[in-house]
Amino acid sequence: MSEVDALVCLQKVSRVYGRGEAAAVALDEASLVIGRRSWVAIVGPSGHGKSTLLHLMGGLDRSTSGEIHLDGEELSRLSARRLAAVRARKIGFVFQFFNLLPHLTALENVQTALWFGGYASVQARRKGLDLLDQVGLADRADRLPGQLSGGQQQRVAIARALANDPDLLLLDEPTGNLDSVAEADVLDRLGTLHRQGRTLVMVTHSSAVASRAERIVGVRDGRIDSDATAEQTLLQC
Ligand SMILES: Nc1ncnc2c1ncn2[C@@H]1O[C@H](COP(=O)(O)OP(=O)(O)OP(=O)(O)O)[C@@H](O)[C@H]1O
Ligand SMILES: [Mg+2]
Repeated sequence: MSEVDALVCLQKVSRVYGRGEAAAVALDEASLVIGRRSWVAIVGPSGHGKSTLLHLMGGLDRSTSGEIHLDGEELSRLSARRLAAVRARKIGFVFQFFNLLPHLTALENVQTALWFGGYASVQARRKGLDLLDQVGLADRADRLPGQLSGGQQQRVAIARALANDPDLLLLDEPTGNLDSVAEADVLDRLGTLHRQGRTLVMVTHSSAVASRAERIVGVRDGRIDSDATAEQTLLQC
């Protein structure tokens, strides 16, 4: 067994929505370590906590209890401002339903993330075009999301997630709304990003998509239910 450097570490993390009788436990003491440069798929039934897990890992939501360490920092101890800074610098997020701004072009959607990262306008335009080029969409830069196919919108979302050169890419159903050709294309691009040294955590309902990852983690009833790693590794926080 080899030891791998941990990028994300969750220790007994719970997320409870609501209070009292209406309380719903979305995540129930989940513990998980994500190795740097790994590609992990999160699978499990609908409503069992996959998106919740991803949002917590990415600092988009706060846990009810437990600890989440990202690159050595404990997220629950960070102020909202510091958390936003960590998110902007280290994490790229691709949402379950793209979340592109409909009245902005493909390029402008990517540029918004660059502005958060502190890029000035001229640089942001150049970098935005470069990112769209990386996902094969340089010639669609001026299109609105509604004028793009689902696969193309997804690739804009990936370009936007890459804006600030994040170590960690969190992808919620990155191929969920795509046909098989667009799915294969997105997966090839994710494979390239993985080879470039990024850490990828993706939620998927598809076992074919999950099999592209090195490790498949099952979530059920808000708990980590299974963990299949291609190569046995010992991960420590
Ligand atoms: N904002 C919220 N308020 C209350 N309950 C919520 C909220 N968000 C999620 N939940 C509940 O938490 C549970 C887990 O939701 P989550 O979105 O993590 O599921 P999921 O595994 O991603 O499902 P899917 O595969 O359908 O996307 C669900 O029962 C859901 O109803
Ligand atoms: Mg979900």
